[in-house]
Amino acid sequence: MLNAAPTDLSGKVALVTGASGGIGASAIEHFAALGATVYGTDIAQQYDGVATYRPFNLLDDEGLADCTTWINEIKPDILLNNAAVFDMGSILDADLTQYDRLFGVNVRAFYAVMQGVAKSMVANGQQGSIINLASQAGHRGEALVAHYCATKAAAISYTQSAALALAPHKIRVNAISPGVIDTAMWKEVDALFATFENKQPGQKKREVGDAVPLGHMGDPADVARVAVFLASDQ
Ligand SMILES: NC(=O)c1ccc[n+]([C@@H]2O[C@H](COP(=O)([O-])OP(=O)(O)OC[C@H]3O[C@@H](n4cnc5c(N)ncnc54)[C@H](O)[C@@H]3O)[C@@H](O)[C@H]2O)c1
Repeated sequence: MLNAAPTDLSGKVALVTGASGGIGASAIEHFAALGATVYGTDIAQQYDGVATYRPFNLLDDEGLADCTTWINEIKPDILLNNAAVFDMGSILDADLTQYDRLFGVNVRAFYAVMQGVAKSMVANGQQGSIINLASQAGHRGEALVAHYCATKAAAISYTQSAALALAPHKIRVNAISPGVIDTAMWKEVDALFATFENKQPGQKKREVGDAVPLGHMGDPADVARVAVFLASDQ
């Protein structure tokens, strides 16, 4: 069957977590430009993007419960499950405090938001699309990035289980595993590598960009366009 129609998200409701971040903000602009009604959430009270915004701290149960209530009100057809935090440490020094924070946002909240949206889609008979942000870090371990890599491996596993469970409802579930994308997260990553590997500020970021075969880091819009494709009928 040929489907060469232009991508059109009009009539769709999209929810983006991590709305203020590099990838989330770009996805919101793309979804909105293609006609979707877009809702965004992040931890900060202030927001200056184009989505209808509510702040929730997804690390605490009250924030998660309020976000789930909101999900039931807005009834998303599209979820970009994108909020996450990064930190560094090896098996010798990454402690359980860091574990709780990274697993709390990247796995526990990630799971709760996906579950809330999946239940809403099933209850309302919506054949929606759930798009999870994993990472290349979820496909292999890294000596200095023990917990973050493990959270992203969990994101991939939950994506696979959810895709199989929701297929009978015609709900699609996919994950995107970006390489290195030039966002605010990299300010933090670069600073951490400066400490852990004794590098100059900016050095790690330059090195990872140079190591990409195309010669530069990805742009948030590169990931946003993949999200658009997965969100669309294409
Ligand atoms: N930038 C990269 O190189 C890269 C590579 C692979 C995967 N990713 C993934 O892409 C996604 C987006 O990353 P980004 O680079 O845009 O990062 P980012 O830091 O710019 O965005 C992440 C957003 O999540 C929000 N967030 C963090 N903790 C939260 C909490 N407790 N409650 C609510 N919101 C919270 C942050 O405030 C932030 O706005 C993440 O899942 C990240 O792991 C990024």
